[in-house]
Parts: sequence; C-alpha cells; structure tokens
Amino acid sequence: MTLKFTLAADAPEAAAVPCIVVGVYEDRVLTPSATRVDDRAGGALKRLIESGDATGKIGSTTVLFGLPGVAAPRVVLAGLGEQKKFDAAAFNRAASESARVLKSLPIDSAISYLTEVEVPGRDAAWKLRTAALAADAQAYRYTATFKPKEKPKTPQLEAIAFAAASAAGDRTTKRALAEAGAIANGVRFARELGNLPPNICNPAYIATQAKKLADEHAGVTIEVLEREDMQKLGMGSLLGVAQGAAHAPKLIVLRWQGAGDKVKPYALVGKGITFDSGGISLKPGAGMEEMKFDMCGAAGVLGTFLAAVELKLALNLVCIVPAVENMPDGNAYRPSDILTSMSGLTIEVLNTDAEGRLILCDALTYAQKFEPQVIIDAATLTGACVVALGKFASGLMTRDDELAEELLASGNLTMDRAWRLPLWDDYQQSLESGFADVANIGGKYAGAITAACFLSRFVNGCRWAHLDIAGTAWDEGRKGFATGRPVPLLTQYLIDRCA
Ligand code: BES
Ligand code: MN
Ligand code: ZN
Repeated sequence: MTLKFTLAADAPEAAAVPCIVVGVYEDRVLTPSATRVDDRAGGALKRLIESGDATGKIGSTTVLFGLPGVAAPRVVLAGLGEQKKFDAAAFNRAASESARVLKSLPIDSAISYLTEVEVPGRDAAWKLRTAALAADAQAYRYTATFKPKEKPKTPQLEAIAFAAASAAGDRTTKRALAEAGAIANGVRFARELGNLPPNICNPAYIATQAKKLADEHAGVTIEVLEREDMQKLGMGSLLGVAQGAAHAPKLIVLRWQGAGDKVKPYALVGKGITFDSGGISLKPGAGMEEMKFDMCGAAGVLGTFLAAVELKLALNLVCIVPAVENMPDGNAYRPSDILTSMSGLTIEVLNTDAEGRLILCDALTYAQKFEPQVIIDAATLTGACVVALGKFASGLMTRDDELAEELLASGNLTMDRAWRLPLWDDYQQSLESGFADVANIGGKYAGAITAACFLSRFVNGCRWAHLDIAGTAWDEGRKGFATGRPVPLLTQYLIDRCA
C-alpha cells in the first residue's frame, strides 16, 4: 500500500498530529512555519541552531519531542541547505530525508510544511507531487519473502499531509495529488516486481501479475502469447534466448483504450529477463544475483501502464513485455548460432549475454503491428551505460530530436532524469557479421550505443526512443532495492501528451 496523501491547512503550532516537518536553511533562516513553531516554543529552534545541534545542512534532520506551545508532540527540523542555492534537487532531498525520519518514528501520520518554501521555477503542484513521491519512496518496505511478522507493536507511517491554503484543495492541487498517487502506485508496482527473487518472479509470474492488473481495471485488455504463438509469428530471436530455460517464455500485451479507436496508440516495450545468468557466455559469479533485476524494464512499463490507467489518461496505450529467462543448458542457444527474427533479419549470436536486445527486437517488430505513433522501450540493457552515466541518469537514445526533448523534460520534472547519447549511423558498422544480417554485439567501445543501434534496425520509420536503465533501475548493495525508475519519467511523458 502506498502512503495516503492529503492536504492540511492547520497552523503548524496547532496541528493535532503525531509529527510535523518544518525547515531551516543553512544560513540560520527558519521557514515561515518553523518561525511560528519557534515563537510558540520560546525560541527552542533558534537555540538548537545557535548551539550547532541543528545545522540546516541539506539532508540533515533533527527530531524534537514535546516542544511547549506546540500541539504536535514531535517536530522534525529539516535542513534545506543554503537559501540562495535552494533548488528542485534540494527540495527533493529535504522531502526525502525528512520522510526517512518519519518512517523511523512510531507514528502513523504527519504533516509536512516543506511545501510552503519557494522552489525557483517550480509551482505548487510540482512541490506537492515531488514531496509526496519522495515520501512514498522512503516509506516503502520490502516484506514479501520474510517470515511473516506479528503485527508491528508501534504504529507505522501510513499517511502524510502537505501544507496548503485549504484542506480541500483546488483543481490543480487535487490533480497533483491524484498524479502523485498514481505514479506512486506505479513505482511501488515496479519496485515490488523488481525486488522479488527469480524463483518467484519468473515469466509466468509476470504474466499473472499483468492479468491481475487487467482484471482489476475496467477498459484494460490483455493477451499473453505462449511459445507456440511466438513460433507461429516467427519470433526466432526471442525464442532463441528462451531455449535454455526451464521456464516457458511469455509475451504479454496489455492495452488501454482511453481515446477513440482510430487514434494511434503509444507503445511501451520493457525488457523482462527474469534472470540473466549470461547463458552459455556465463557471467562471473560475483554480483550475478543482481541480474534478478534484469526485468526492471518490464516492471517499469507495467508500472507506467498502471499509473496511466489509474489516471484514465485520454490516450491509447499498448504495453508489450517479453518475459524470458536467460539460462545455460544442454538445449541453450550458443555463440555462433544464427537466429531468424520476426522481421526476417538473421542475427549471429556472438555472445549469449547480449540477450536483452534479442528479445526486444522481436517485441519491437510485434509492437509495430499496432501502428503506434511512438514506441518507447525501457531496458536494463548494458553495463556500458552504467560505466558512461553512473547511477543517476538513464541513457536515452533516439534519432528523433523532438521526442528526445519531450522525454528529457519529463525526466527533469519528475527528478527521474535521463541523458541523451548519440545514435549516429557511424556506430552501426560495428554490428556487421560475416554470417548473418547483423551480429548481436558491437566492438569494445560505446556498448550502450551499439546496443541501441542493434534495436534501431528493427524499428522501421516509427518514432522510437530507447531508455537504458541499467544504472538507474536499482540501488547497489546488500540492501539495494529496485527504484521504480523510469515510471515517473514515462508516466509524466504520457500525462503531458494529454495536456
Ligand atoms: N542485463 C545485462 C546488462 C547489465 C549488466 C545491466 C550489469 C546492469 C548491470 C545485459 O544483458 C548484458 O549482459 N549486457 C552485456 C552486453 C555485452 C555482452 C555486449 C554487458 O553489458 O556486458
Ligand atoms: Mn546479459
Ligand atoms: Zn540482460
């Protein structure tokens, strides 16, 4: 369950909730709500700042208990950094860090007054959405595969309200909260699916989750293609990857009809490798467990689809997920195999670990049957993209400048940023093969781009963009969870297409 988001018009000192959040800049300037609380509490906040116990540094937080004259028993003082440097990123950080503290406290609800602060270039709706999404991302707990716990003895954060002029809200603030709620649901869906282990989250499981989504939402239709269906369609590339796995592949096709029959749909395609062992070109053991996240593209487009449907967006949408496991086996495909894709192009397999593009190419060919106005794919496609951009930006590759601008803008707005890499024809030659129309890997350089070049050969004359989310889809480490990216970027993109 996501957090419940509401608005609150209570004065900060009078709000009868377990906790309130107010802000202080590094320059010792209190926000208006912090000032009111400080006045009531006889200067308690100012003293805390003067003593150096609260610094106002961006990301810092201090919890105060039982301030006199303040109705809420707890006050979280969130550092906002230097006032003149305060921007969208700082706002997001403060919202996120204060929510981290809220989650750790024995409370079920809170009011955040951070939405009162000015963020250059951003409006009230943006502040609401951003604060709500930051809070929900922090509140998420992964529990699916632990021994079921007794009901927790202390309350857990379930709801957060944001300071606003009226608790009822006007049209734009209501819309902002609805969008935040839908995106939060999409992000949670993507995170949960991403975090599940591959012995649970296999291709059939993803198909079941997609069917559930379709059952629970009016206006959604679903079709799941089985191995035999894909054989009939000639999807030799996808099926080549699936050959070594005990789990049968699925091609999931969800449709949402939010506009007239004649309106061309947007198509989302997501890489759904439920585990990427590398196949016969086996990956090294260290870090292989992270390859359960190799279906995060699938999770991301499904989460986006869910958000779009919840918002009942006035557009048509097709969501296509090839779900396949990449395993080594006596029957597995091998380096030097030649696969014939649905498009007719033959592919020389030079590395069975470059499998994502092999399932995506057939999914992209299939997507074009729906005559989409735009195709966007999301995929944890290359380690090279992580080398190039690190963990902060998704790689964006497209030949369409307008589409690139639109997607970059959606990412900037939602703090789910992408960075464009070139997709010039110069890079295509590295995919040449002496034995087939195309090889499945390029040379030693520009691996993220040559992977996109491979995909580009299967998209004919349609507006198309590729998001490489290998660096952004999950956080590293023992407790690295799926992030739910690029659900915010993609959902925002679709929202903006309806404006
Ligand atoms: N799923 C991986 C890409 C990946 C690697 C994502 C590490 C996140 C972290 C993909 O299937 C893969 O193995 N790509 C190869 C391509 C290479 C064989 C051309 C890679 O990036 O090494
Ligand atoms: Mn691989
Ligand atoms: Zn992979």
